[in-house]
Amino acid sequence: MAVERTFSIIKPDATARNLTGAVNAVIEKAGLRIVAQKRVKWTQQQAEKFYEVHKERPFYGDLVKFMTSGPIVVQVLEGENAVKKYREVMGATDPAKADAGTVRKQFAESIERNSVHGSDSPDNANIEIGLNFKPEEIVG
Ligand code: RTP
Ligand code: MG
Repeated sequence: MAVERTFSIIKPDATARNLTGAVNAVIEKAGLRIVAQKRVKWTQQQAEKFYEVHKERPFYGDLVKFMTSGPIVVQVLEGENAVKKYREVMGATDPAKADAGTVRKQFAESIERNSVHGSDSPDNANIEIGLNFKPEEIVG
């Protein structure tokens, strides 16, 4: 199986509760390597662009507001089947539906304030990594 990269965000609800290390512990325990990481605050424009695919959804405005409400930690994760694996580690979008042991089951506050983002396909992972990191910031 091929080593792959995915893009991850620790969202404002999690950074506000000082959970960066706790989320990272789950990521590393699952066998994914954090090969790039930085704490940033997105502008409205950055959040709108990142979530452009959801522009027509009713939650888009709230989502952009939430994702610009505080610091986030953006990351590149590397490992076998990293995209699919990290989706499993995160759990369902709605924490009420997430499996035991997943990040969202343990830490998420609601379907919106759900602590983490992970890319949903290898193509989107490459796009999202490119939007947030320069190649030299990723050290595998
Ligand atoms: P993500 O993109 O953040 O990894 O999450 P996901 O694939 O599991 O969920 P997606 O459908 O892509 O939705 C993106 C984010 O929008 C917020 N959301 N709010 N209020 C709502 O009904 C609602 N639905 C989604 C969540 O923060 C979700 O992660
Ligand atoms: Mg998504």
